[in-house]
Amino acid sequence: MAKTLIVYGSTTGNTESVAETIQKILAEQNVDVDLQNAADIQAQDLANGYDAVLLGSSTWGDEEIELQDDFIPLYESLEQAGLKGKKVAVFGCGDSSYTHFCGAVDAIEQKAEQLGADIIVGSLKIDGDPDDDETAQWAKEVLSHL
Ligand SMILES: Cc1cc2nc3c(=O)[nH]c(=O)nc-3n(C[C@H](O)[C@H](O)[C@H](O)COP(=O)(O)O)c2cc1C
Repeated sequence: MAKTLIVYGSTTGNTESVAETIQKILAEQNVDVDLQNAADIQAQDLANGYDAVLLGSSTWGDEEIELQDDFIPLYESLEQAGLKGKKVAVFGCGDSSYTHFCGAVDAIEQKAEQLGADIIVGSLKIDGDPDDDETAQWAKEVLSHL
């Protein structure tokens, strides 16, 4: 089973909670999975030793899309992370009352794809509070590609 890394950026804990749910579901299926807060890691060689990387960020800003604060340095150095050829999927929390609903998720997915990542499933965009059922569904879809 693929060794998987989950990295999330979360300000009020919503995307963190989603990341933890994903970790739990993958671990229950015996996936070797590590969970990291973007605040605690560097982009350099991030994906080394992993087959799959799940990236999560909430969206901020209003007129413009802003990634979650801790995720910005990682996004800006993503080319150093070694995502080429890795299985990647992106998730995040947002609020559909904003113009760019989960814009950070789209931006990360687009950049990962440009860097040669293999996007294994469409992104998970949570509107409002973390939704365990929606997250579990998505995690199972991810699982089927690991
Ligand atoms: C000032 C502000 C700006 C926001 N901008 C956006 C946005 O552009 N798009 C979006 O989908 N959500 C936006 N949100 C909603 C947050 O992304 C949402 O509350 C999310 O659940 C926060 O997740 P976190 O706790 O993981 O950081 C914004 C929230 C605030 C307070």
